[in-house]
Amino acid sequence: MTASTSPQNVLAAIADDMRAVDQLIRHRLASEVVLINQISEYIINSGGKRLRPALLLLVAGALGVSSPHRFELAAVIEFIHTSTLLHDDVVDESDLRRGKQTANALFGNAASVLVGDFLYSRSFEMMVSVDNMRVMQILARATNVIAEGEVLQLLNMHDPDVDEARYLQVIQYKTATLFEAATQLAAVLANADAQTEAAVREYGGRLGTAFQLMDDWLDYAGDTDAMGKNAGDDLREGKPTLPLIHVLQHGTDEERALVREAIENGGTDKFEPILAAITRTGALDYTLARAKEEADAAAQTISALPSSQYKNSLLELCSYSIARRT
Ligand code: IPE
Ligand code: IPE
Ligand code: MG
Ligand code: MG
Repeated sequence: MTASTSPQNVLAAIADDMRAVDQLIRHRLASEVVLINQISEYIINSGGKRLRPALLLLVAGALGVSSPHRFELAAVIEFIHTSTLLHDDVVDESDLRRGKQTANALFGNAASVLVGDFLYSRSFEMMVSVDNMRVMQILARATNVIAEGEVLQLLNMHDPDVDEARYLQVIQYKTATLFEAATQLAAVLANADAQTEAAVREYGGRLGTAFQLMDDWLDYAGDTDAMGKNAGDDLREGKPTLPLIHVLQHGTDEERALVREAIENGGTDKFEPILAAITRTGALDYTLARAKEEADAAAQTISALPSSQYKNSLLELCSYSIARRT
């Protein structure tokens, strides 16, 4: 795969399933409250890669699931993702998402938080309709851990002493957990044996970790237009992500002082010298290498799955996760 390959090419095997999920998403958004429809349709119609529901469907395909419950659960996963984005953009004070103004920029923080809550709770109604205790356990735990991750990240904000281990815990909690839940749910629907369930769950977690490492790489190396969200947001907020943590470990005294100050106070006025320190210390290459390790490990965990076009796509997603620029 090349850097420009979109996940859409990888997803040909589940194109019909994805259309079914999209229809269901629209259907399940409905509310009598006009503002809810307005905001939820605004963010859902802005696109997004729909990567997490696609993962659930691909693993379902690889494990031979035919139950329509897979559509409901794929939609649940995208609703949970969308609600975390609505909340995340308020917390991060972001004004650009999916190439458009964020919901908080357009409708305000209060409306964004409340519609995020609506999507969360709607997803609970949907998961209950599947009537499977394990499904509910997995999703109850996942949503709880994601919330813990967001709070941990808040605690890490403006703290230049955050090390790689604390950083990795945050991305495990806030991002990898939902990927894990998506792949594990497909195994549960398939009634797969414990070993297969653990393998696809680990695949999801490692892919999610690689995906967030690349998100943090893109925040320094990426292009605002291609990403549809602002590069430099993490620095502006004083978020200690891996590129900065690497400079703090390997930079000169001067570079370390520069980065400590930036994390403590936030702001992008020092973006250029910080980027120079990031480049000089190889911090972006290091972040990319860590992402590649996770993506390779993800591919390894599903080696025992029987060959199929779905499995091929799951393997391609590992390359995509580190080649993506959007
Ligand atoms: C954004 O996720 C949040 C992260 C975990 C980095 P995506 O990059 O999957 O967002 P959309 O859904 O495609 O907009
Ligand atoms: C991902 O973190 C947010 C969640 C997993 C909820 P980011 O803050 O890096 O995501 P973006 O960059 O705003 O999409
Ligand atoms: Mg954010
Ligand atoms: Mg980001």
